[in-house]
Amino acid sequence: MDRSNAGLLLGLLLLQFNRCLALGGGDAAEGGGVFPVVVSTWPFREAVRAAWEVVAAGSTGGSAVDAIVAGCSACEVLRCDGTVGPGGSPDENGETTLDALIMNGTTMEIGAVASMRYVKDGIKAAKLVMEHTGHTLLVGEKATAFAISMGLAGPTNLSSPESIEKWSNWRQNHCQPNFWKNVVPAGNCGPYYPINVNPVHRTIGEIQGWLQSGNLLEPTDSHLKSVINRHNHDTISMAVIDKMGHVAVGTSTNGATFKIPGRVGDGPIPGSSAYGDDEVGACGATGDGDIMMRFLPCYQVVESMRRGMEPRDAAMDAISRISRKYPDFVGALFAVNNKGVHAGACHGWTFQYSVRNSSMEDVEVITVTP
Ligand SMILES: *[C@@H]1O[C@H](CO)[C@@H](O)[C@H](O)[C@H]1NC(C)=O
Ligand SMILES: *[C@@H]1O[C@H](CO)[C@@H](O)[C@H](O)[C@H]1NC(C)=O
Ligand SMILES: *[C@@H]1O[C@H](CO)[C@@H](O)[C@H](O)[C@H]1NC(C)=O
Repeated sequence: MDRSNAGLLLGLLLLQFNRCLALGGGDAAEGGGVFPVVVSTWPFREAVRAAWEVVAAGSTGGSAVDAIVAGCSACEVLRCDGTVGPGGSPDENGETTLDALIMNGTTMEIGAVASMRYVKDGIKAAKLVMEHTGHTLLVGEKATAFAISMGLAGPTNLSSPESIEKWSNWRQNHCQPNFWKNVVPAGNCGPYYPINVNPVHRTIGEIQGWLQSGNLLEPTDSHLKSVINRHNHDTISMAVIDKMGHVAVGTSTNGATFKIPGRVGDGPIPGSSAYGDDEVGACGATGDGDIMMRFLPCYQVVESMRRGMEPRDAAMDAISRISRKYPDFVGALFAVNNKGVHAGACHGWTFQYSVRNSSMEDVEVITVTP
């Protein structure tokens, strides 16, 4: 099919899937001084200001990596939306754990931690992995031990009175909603067994008893969807291009509320929640990470821009690849190229992202509406 037909088809798909988009930047590029630029998911103004302070300082400015740490740390301390840093998103056991990632777009080095317990500095732990190990991702209590041995504070209780209250209310509501599917719960809050459970462990009579008592728990899409909204399922995902033109990206989140313990979302997965390359630009994503990580949307955005797409088209394309398979998914991303042009695209919710570039007096929040 030729280009115009492909464009028309894309346009129709966009309408059909109720996509939303916004776009800005770039015009000042000819005037020089395009950089630095800081872009972040959501109206996390304080995080962008903290990153800007680092990257705009002095004549050469701080590095993009240091700006990412400053920006994401600010959100961890402020507990942005209750979904970044300690004190939010309790899992089924009431515990808060952290996921974080940082990437240096000059070297493509990455450091990440997932399901990290008892340490509140997610992004700093990720940076320690990147700078002091040959690894990319550390998980669970082993990540905790590493972070503390490298000088971060801990062990710390990551729960807050709010997260514990949320969790108790959920327990009282028979642990609904939750992320299980195709299981039979032995009680209101589990344990859960697969429907086609091994008869050695479960008698047919027992299973039939559960089924007849209406205990069969089989979440539909809408059941899961009710779990996902901005205040229990988002991420700070940030991209910085420093004055030298170097790119870095980072994410920090405490994951999905009432997740099954051990669940790792898209936050620490390179190419899913964030990706960046000095040669091209960067991308940050937020939303239903369990779905989004199947598509590596930020890797897709960066690679599409590498092959010549504008940020807006690359962002829309990455979202439509997901919505074609999951029409009900909730998610969003931003793209910024190495000329400073930025754009956002989203599906299933209204998205906002924050930008500061050298022609702005302060952070600007851009709304991407359906
Ligand atoms: C900063 O972004 C705005 C749009 O949000 C754009 O109009 C402007 O050209 C950008 N400035 C630079 C230096 O890229
Ligand atoms: C990436 O790492 C290189 C080598 O350590 C460093 O020179 C560079 O400043 C880093 N990039 C950023 C954006 O900080
Ligand atoms: C952790 O903090 C929460 C909320 O303040 C509290 O309910 C819980 O008892 C604490 N856990 C421990 C082991 O101190």
